[in-house]
Amino acid sequence: MVRFEDVWLKYRNTARAGAPAKDVLRAISFEIPDGGFRWLTGPSGAGKTSLLKLIYLAEHPASGLIEILGTRAANISRREAALLRRRIGVVYQDFRLLPQLSAYDNVALPMRLARRGEAQIAADVTEILRWVGLEDRLHARPDELSGGAQQRIAIARAVVGRPKLLVADEPTGNLDDEQAERLMLLITALNRLGTTVVVATHNMALVERYPAPKLRIEDGKLVQNG
Ligand SMILES: Nc1ncnc2c1ncn2[C@@H]1O[C@H](COP(=O)(O)OP(=O)(O)O)[C@@H](O)[C@H]1O
Ligand SMILES: [Mg+2]
Repeated sequence: MVRFEDVWLKYRNTARAGAPAKDVLRAISFEIPDGGFRWLTGPSGAGKTSLLKLIYLAEHPASGLIEILGTRAANISRREAALLRRRIGVVYQDFRLLPQLSAYDNVALPMRLARRGEAQIAADVTEILRWVGLEDRLHARPDELSGGAQQRIAIARAVVGRPKLLVADEPTGNLDDEQAERLMLLITALNRLGTTVVVATHNMALVERYPAPKLRIEDGKLVQNG
């Protein structure tokens, strides 16, 4: 389960020292049950990425309660946070691939961190890269690939460990319609196997094709839940 109760987020390090910190998210409360799927929508600058960062523990709220996969996020140790993070797959808006690693090694990374065996890694990484249509680019580095291909590697890396929670930030931004459709098949298959999913998107056509409850934020406030 993902639970937010009256969560506020401020960014401290704003441009001018001493400038008042801006409330980026205000009084956010919602719950996503285990195995649930939510679209996260709202205009650019509304706070979607900020909300996702709170979910994958990259930011801390100014106040409020956050519970992720049954664990309260406040005051957990670094080790607990690291273990929790391993159960969360994240597709970053800007991909965050490691430039010196091949497509294969980028996708293998979370499995290696989780100390899976290389035979299992080879099977799973090859399978997921085949699914996203990159089986012939296993050895390419990110800078040798198109933006769409990089995004598909980022998606493959996020799902390869079958996370309990998948958080995807505009995952179709660089994909054509057919690739976006394929991505949604992958995400809905994972969701059916029990992964809780949150997808931030601008792609309203996609939202309409895959009806699911929406979390909509505008100017830092949750204006729709359901
Ligand atoms: N690291 C940061 N420091 C200060 N302000 C930020 C930071 N990240 C985002 N913001 C501001 O927070 C607001 C919400 O941003 P963001 O969560 O990226 O929105 P969205 O993903 O919906 O486009 C924007 O006004 C943005 O400029
Ligand atoms: Mg964003």
